[in-house]
Amino acid sequence: MNPNQCTQPNVPLVNLIVEPKRAETLKKLSLDYSGLTLTPRQLSDLELLMNGSFSPLTGFMNQADYESVLDRMRLTDGTLWPLPICLDVSPAMAKDLETGQSLALLDTEGFMLAVLHIEAIWPEYYVGGAIEGIQAPHHFAFRRHRHTPREMRALYHQLGWRRIVGFQTRNPLHRKQFEMTIRAMETVDANLLLQPVVQGDKPGDIDTYTRIRCYLAAAPHYPPNTMMLSLLPFNMRMAGPREDLLQAIIRKNYGCTHFIVDHDHAVAGADQDGNDFYDHNAAAELVKSFSEELGLGIVTFTQMLYDADEEAYFPADEVNPAHTVRNLSDDEFHQILRQGKRFPDWFTFPEVIDELRKGYPPRHRQGFTIFFTGLSGAGKSTIAKVLYAHFLERGDRPVTLLDGDIVRLNLSKELGFSKEHRDINVRRIGYVASEITKNRGIAICAPIAPYAETRDQIREIIEAYGGFFEVHVSTPLAVCESRDRKGLYAKARAGLIKGFTGIDDPYEPPMHPEVSIDTTDLTPDEAAQKILRRLERMGYIE
Ligand code: PPS
Repeated sequence: MNPNQCTQPNVPLVNLIVEPKRAETLKKLSLDYSGLTLTPRQLSDLELLMNGSFSPLTGFMNQADYESVLDRMRLTDGTLWPLPICLDVSPAMAKDLETGQSLALLDTEGFMLAVLHIEAIWPEYYVGGAIEGIQAPHHFAFRRHRHTPREMRALYHQLGWRRIVGFQTRNPLHRKQFEMTIRAMETVDANLLLQPVVQGDKPGDIDTYTRIRCYLAAAPHYPPNTMMLSLLPFNMRMAGPREDLLQAIIRKNYGCTHFIVDHDHAVAGADQDGNDFYDHNAAAELVKSFSEELGLGIVTFTQMLYDADEEAYFPADEVNPAHTVRNLSDDEFHQILRQGKRFPDWFTFPEVIDELRKGYPPRHRQGFTIFFTGLSGAGKSTIAKVLYAHFLERGDRPVTLLDGDIVRLNLSKELGFSKEHRDINVRRIGYVASEITKNRGIAICAPIAPYAETRDQIREIIEAYGGFFEVHVSTPLAVCESRDRKGLYAKARAGLIKGFTGIDDPYEPPMHPEVSIDTTDLTPDEAAQKILRRLERMGYIE
């Protein structure tokens, strides 16, 4: 293998990062450039363009290459290329841009990463052109496991590795995947480049950090010095066989001599009617058909199954039909994980289970938010304080009380009670509660939070990290008004306070709260007990 050659014969691997002096000049010129803040997906494409993973591409595709790729899976110069690598911009931005102009490509913090010299602009809107790279996007985690194709090839050289089989995955490495890679290594007599994609989790994926810890935990199960772990910041398209072909090309650029194509790799599930988008073997067949052109051996596998009689894994087509096979579906896997049940021994390694449990503890060790909502005087703060004291007494998880008054004093002093300000206030509470929940604490929030849509948005954010437990304190207006501990209802009725919730401002009751409590005839302790019982039934407390 020529260490500098990419997928196209006799063309060197691309490295689009310019030397420091030129980078300085480009930055100085930035006043003349329009700037585009890249989305996570665009950022990952830029990184792969800049570091040579997408060799021989030297920039985002122009229209001719884009169309040629869609039509015949080749760039206009004939190089095999299965998927568009395009930079999409808004119609408004496209109108302000012209070919011949340059565009500064920025990360979310505004750092200038590269300059794109525009060669083409076309609707939907895409801009294409060559890239000059100033600095690669920053990664702060697991840096030892990130490599450019050149760095990877230098490592093989240093280790004397000449045959390397690449494996890409976005699952944790369980025994099924482990046995498949071991078989592939034996079949083609090669070392392993385990190269998971680690950008842009898809719904239902195990989060990236847990996944990477799982790979590191599984790695010692390989024979010593036979595998390397390298993280690929590729944002998957879930585009099926063509995407597998792109994955193969990337691995070729990473110096692999072979590549594993599992069944159903980059597939986005089934269509509305439950039909698979692609035939199970479509990816393997497509990638294999280009094996010679790519100079890359393709190792294909049907599904790996556990043969309980043999106590070993086999590809589905090699299993003795008389034997009992075992397999965990994705749904079963997530169910076991969610419910904290035991994984069967044949499924994965104990070290991997430990990492999964660390990342996905059972509910009674996850964080959660108790979110009270209800009219002023309904009893939210008092019940919240009883619960706060209860969790402090238990002492098993850190607990924070974000009462309406505390928040208005410390986070939202400048805000009033317009719809806009109430939404800002409630979103701030939601953000703080989501951070507490993420860090496995208990957040108790007690604002009025009168708008259903805003509460639902907060629920969505928080449920990504733990539990969201909505308590509707549904004490009727008449009771709240009769209590009128702060004298505010009287003032509102007298027109001295405008836009008071329940009087001349709306309150939208929740449709499906976890608990609804009317405090007309309940003491705060009784109300708190009701909440605690429900929390226990849902598994948040033991
Ligand atoms: S919101 O709507 O969620 O942002 O409200 P919140 O931050 O919980 O603040 C409600 C408390 O502010 C006092 N107050 C008002 N409430 C409702 N409407 C108007 N116009 C208003 N003006 C002041 C009121 O005392 C609320 O306190 P609680 O603790 O709910 O009785």
